[in-house]
Amino acid sequence: MAADDIHLVSHPLVQHKLSLMRDRERSTKGFRELLNEIGMLLCYEVTRDLPLEMVDIETPIAPMKAPQIAGKKLTLAPILRAGVGFLDGMLALIPSARVAHIGLYRDPNTLEAVEYYFKAPQDLSDRTVILMDPMLATGNSACAAASLLKARGARDIRFVCLLAAPEGIAQFRKLHGDIPIWTAAVDERLNDHGYIVPGLGDAGDRMFGTK
Ligand code: URA
Repeated sequence: MAADDIHLVSHPLVQHKLSLMRDRERSTKGFRELLNEIGMLLCYEVTRDLPLEMVDIETPIAPMKAPQIAGKKLTLAPILRAGVGFLDGMLALIPSARVAHIGLYRDPNTLEAVEYYFKAPQDLSDRTVILMDPMLATGNSACAAASLLKARGARDIRFVCLLAAPEGIAQFRKLHGDIPIWTAAVDERLNDHGYIVPGLGDAGDRMFGTK
């Protein structure tokens, strides 16, 4: 994958909201709302180059040819559980999208991704799939999720996250160099527990008020 296949979303609204999310004092409610809002903004960026086709419509004044998104409905694929935080925001912009749920948890000792659930539309080969997880840390979950989608025929996959670690980007590039990445920031590194530094902590726990 070429370096420019990492799309750093530097829009001030995204950067401002991300800083609010990083603040350890942010409430569960606030964190969830911000993730949802950033999901919407990232959705706008990741769909920027979707192909359009011209269709015949009639305005109240005259017939015309107007652009609409070509092809089959998109599939949104959140990695459970934190990826769900992006879903409502993305569905607000693409309300007829299909949804694939990918259940993976991180083994706390090995940091490997363990699959516990996978349910996706049948015909992934004809659809653009937006794979999403707020944190690209070791890259293990994102790589496992991308492999599951490819095994079901997906060919056009785009990965969206909020924060990425250089280690996660390297791992993802190594195994899935064909999949471009959209992220709001690339942080310094991972710590010994596989958390992104400075990061924002455990996205799932902060979203759902667990811990
Ligand atoms: N998952 C998280 O939620 N946070 C991290 O920093 C790394 C992985």
